Amino acid sequence: MNTSALPRHVAIIMDGNGRWAKKNALRVALGHRKGVEALRAIIRESSDIGIEALSLYAFSTENWRRSPEEVEALMGLLLEYFTKEIDELDENRVCIRILGDKDGMPEKQRQALIKAEERTKNNTGLKLNIAINYGSRAELARAARILAEKAVRGEIRPEDITEQALADELYTKGLPDVDLLIRTSGEMRLSNFLLYQCAYAEFVFPTVLWPDFDLAAYHEALAAFGSRDRRFGGRKT
Ligand code: IPE
Ligand code: IPE
Ligand code: MG
Repeated sequence: MNTSALPRHVAIIMDGNGRWAKKNALRVALGHRKGVEALRAIIRESSDIGIEALSLYAFSTENWRRSPEEVEALMGLLLEYFTKEIDELDENRVCIRILGDKDGMPEKQRQALIKAEERTKNNTGLKLNIAINYGSRAELARAARILAEKAVRGEIRPEDITEQALADELYTKGLPDVDLLIRTSGEMRLSNFLLYQCAYAEFVFPTVLWPDFDLAAYHEALAAFGSRDRRFGGRKT
């Protein structure tokens, strides 16, 4: 594939597990399990072709509204993922960062997330960001709070609160802005994902359900990105 116009930062809203399960007359938990399987190839490919950062929406602050059974299944899968996949991710030099409020997670999951970050923090390969208990509005409110606390302590002045200062208090601190956002299943909304970071992102909405999102579909999305004319408000002569 042509890697000349690759995005530095890809974000994916992995949507459609529920519909996939329904379509195949399976329980929703099995749809989520298939979703995790689809993920493996996408992470490996991102690593192989030299994507710098990959951000995945795994569980939103709003997803707690689902049934206790589904939330429990998702929490179980998360724990399983961070236990079983961590060796391979670490071997592939993947650096894991969790976007979201870890303190709001059940204790076992919280520990597993912290451990994964700690273990892979010096890895120099793909920056893999997994959004768990994440909501963009909560992230922005948190950043505002941190800056306000610094101001109250006299460490910064109001005029020090620049776009960069705000970006530096987000979970994505130090990462490039999102270049390409992919949302599967045909839904065309952000659902509270990386609102600030997607200011100039290109959007691609494949209709395929997430468990069916394969390498061909990924390449198609990357090719679509490559053909976009990004202007950032300017004008090309
Ligand atoms: C996305 O799939 C996964 C999570 C939200 C965790 P959904 O479960 O939202 O799938 P649909 O939208 O019901 O098909
Ligand atoms: C967004 O999908 C969250 C994840 C994919 C983790 P949802 O399925 O929860 O979003 P809505 O409810 O359709 O907007
Ligand atoms: Mg959904």
